[in-house]
Order: sequence, then structure tokens, then C-alpha cells
Amino acid sequence: MERLVINGGKVLKGSVNITGAKNAAVAILPAAIIASEGKCIIDNIPDIEDVHCLERILLSLGCIVKKIDNNTLEIDATNVNNLDACTEDVRRMRASYYFIGALLTRFKKARVELPGGCPIGVRPIDQHIKGFEALGAEVVIEHGAVIINAKELKAANIFFDVVSVGATINVMIAATLAEGTTVLENVAKEPHVVDVANFLNTMGADVKGAGTDIIRVRGVEKLTGCNYSVIPDQIEAGTFMIAAVATRGDVTISNVIPKHLESISAKLIEMGATVEEGDDSVRVTVEGELKGVNVKTAPYPGFPTDVQQPMAALLSIVPGKSLISESIWENRHKHADELNKMGANIKVEGRTAIIEGCESLVGALVTATDLRAGAAMVIAGLMAKGKTEIVEIEHIDRGYPHIEDKFRELGADIRREVR
Ligand code: EPZ
Repeated sequence: MERLVINGGKVLKGSVNITGAKNAAVAILPAAIIASEGKCIIDNIPDIEDVHCLERILLSLGCIVKKIDNNTLEIDATNVNNLDACTEDVRRMRASYYFIGALLTRFKKARVELPGGCPIGVRPIDQHIKGFEALGAEVVIEHGAVIINAKELKAANIFFDVVSVGATINVMIAATLAEGTTVLENVAKEPHVVDVANFLNTMGADVKGAGTDIIRVRGVEKLTGCNYSVIPDQIEAGTFMIAAVATRGDVTISNVIPKHLESISAKLIEMGATVEEGDDSVRVTVEGELKGVNVKTAPYPGFPTDVQQPMAALLSIVPGKSLISESIWENRHKHADELNKMGANIKVEGRTAIIEGCESLVGALVTATDLRAGAAMVIAGLMAKGKTEIVEIEHIDRGYPHIEDKFRELGADIRREVR
């Protein structure tokens, strides 16, 4: 088993390059299956375990997948011959649900095992199914798999009951080849929703309005291969911004879209840090005292739920009281117990974490209970006195590429050990 070992107390300095967005890439790779002609060459793909999982699923369905380099894949989906995505890899990850939308639109049928993913609360897919049914599909769930069939797909007006990233993207994918113009309302506006829409359009789709409350998808005859580059990862960038503040460092986070980081920058500035925006970078520094703040997660452009756990690690050593209210997931504060092992003072009441800032954290053996909880532990370890060991880091590897190398380049004392 691998673990991360951190000797805390080093000030982070320098520049870090952010890679492509996980939550865009994990939708774009399944969507590449819709291209019935030509190859998709996709770059700026993060080198993470969730992407490796998707590569194996694409191969199992009959795609030809070539790794051009660590961040570029060529996918030829011309000869997909298996519409049954029921493997251990499909069960392991959340984004495998995008194969339902992609296979449905191109082949009008599929069998896809129900997805797994981080244990952060109940993760229903009723809104995905509502959308597929509105387009004319029949959906049954049998033996833990979604079985979907349609004679034909026809455009529909769909109003989502909750704002869901996954349902917005999945139904947008499914509507690309449906006859007529589908209108999706109450949709998610996250940067990765826009990125997937741009990718579909580059393949020949006609998707308009992504990034606003209404998306219109005019069905086209077919999609073909294309060249595409994934947008930078808002969440990886946010994690490094928080780590810079946590170590009172001076870090330039490069290859980002500063606009996507505004809610995070605003919170760090409210705490007392300085965030200077460049064209495609942000520089994060701290001079004076920091103060506690309240954070409420919300769909984009609100504060991202995926950044609140790293934020909790930082707030645990900031003087005063801070509150983190999680409005998306019902159980996303498991990292609080792990931070408390290091001396933090966090109480969880329902979906709110009440944090009383302590003077400092002390290294301990802690667990990465999920992906972003793992990032929180890394930040805690960087701040703590002495040695922190983080176990179950496979969660971190699902979403952060080479995390220890990136932090080491900024001056952290962090290494991966196999035991
Ligand atoms: C995506 O999950 C991300 N995962 C999550 O990131 C992220 O936390 C989440 O969006 C919110 O931003 C991927 O993109 C692979 P949702 P997703 O559908 O799409 C409810 C990370 O750390 N809901 O937007 O599964 C749901 O229960 C991961 O990178 C329904 O009720 O999230 C939740 O309360 C963790 N019915 C809310 O909507 C549905 O059919 C938002 O979920 C779908 C969702």
C-alpha cells in the first residue's frame, strides 16, 4: 500500500502548472464514443486514475485508444462493438454514467453498471433518467445496471428538479443526435459543462447556451472525430491556492482561467490573503494576519463543494470561528475527524462544520477518506508540525496528477512510500 509522508512547516514558493480539468475530461472521454467517423485527439487530459479507468472502459467497448503522451489520447470509436459497460472499472467511478448518454445517442441502447465514486452522500441518477426518458428512451435498472433502449430519440423540453452537473452533461450528450431541438432548463453552469459542450460542438454537434440557465441542443445527423484541448482544472487550482495561503507562501498558479477561480479568490481575499490575477495565472501571497470566514458551497459560480474540504484544513489554523455549510452533498465532512486527530477543533452539525481556529496542527497518521478529503490532509500535513502520514491515497490519485511532485517543486517535504 502506498502512503504520502509529509514533514510539515515548509513555506511553498514558486510556480505550479495546473493540468486539464478532471470533471471535464471524465465526460469528454465517454462522449468521444459518439464520433462514428474519424478520431478524436484530446490533449491536456490529466494523468489520473479516473482517466486510466475510462481508457480501459473505452477499450472494453471496442474503441482504439492510443496514448500519444501522458496528457494526450487518440480515440477511434468507429468500430465500437460492445454496448455492455459492466466491468469493475465502471463500478469504481462516478463518471462512467456518461457512457449511458453517449451509447444511447449513437446506438440507441446500452447496459451500463451503476456508478461508484466518492462516499460523500447519496448520489442518485434520477435526473439523468428523467432526461433520457423525455428523449424517448426506456430505462430499467436490473441487477445493479442501467438498461436503456430507444426506438428513436426525439427532442424534448426538460426542466431539471435539481441543478446537477452530471445530469446536465449526460442529457446534453444524449440529445446531440436526437431529432429536433432539445431545451434543457435549470442546468448546471460549471466550466466543465461549457467545456463538454464545446467539445461536442467541435465534433459537429449544435449546442448553444452552455454556461447559462438554458441549454439548447439541435440534433444533428452524426458527430465526427476532432482535435480538442481540455480546460484547466478549477479544483486543482483552488487546492494549490489554498495550500499557498496555508503555508503563508508565495505561489503562482499557472495555466488557469482566473474567472473560474473568482469565488475561491474572493474567499481567500476575505480571509486576508492577496490574489493577483494575470491573464492565465493567479499569484497567491499572505502578509498580515488571517481571519476566519464563513463558506457556503453552491453550484457555479458559487463556492465549489469540491474545494470546501481543502478550505476546512486551512481554516482549522486561522484564528476565530469559521463555518462551512455544505449545500450539495449530505455527508462531505468526514475529513473533520481526521483533521481533529492533528489537533484541529471542528464540530460537525448536520451539513455544517463549525471550526474554531487552533494555534497549529501536529503531524499524525490520517486517512484520505475521499478525493478532496485527501487533498485536505495534504494541506494539513504541509502546515503541521512534524510528520504526517496519509493512507488510502488511491482516492487522491483518482483526481490529482502527481500531487507529491507538484508540491515538492514548490518546496514541500513530501514523498510517496510503499509499505
Ligand atoms: C459532479 O458530480 C462532480 N463529479 C463532483 O465532483 C462534484 O462534487 C459535483 O458534480 C457538484 O459540483 C464529476 O463530475 C465526475 P451533481 P455529480 O449531479 O455530477 C443531486 C470531485 O470531488 N442529484 O451535480 O455526480 C445530488 O445528490 C467530485 O471531483 C440528484 O438528486 O453531482 C447532489 O445533491 C465529487 N439527482 C446534487 O444533485 C440526480 O440525478 C448535485 O449533484 C443527480 C444529482
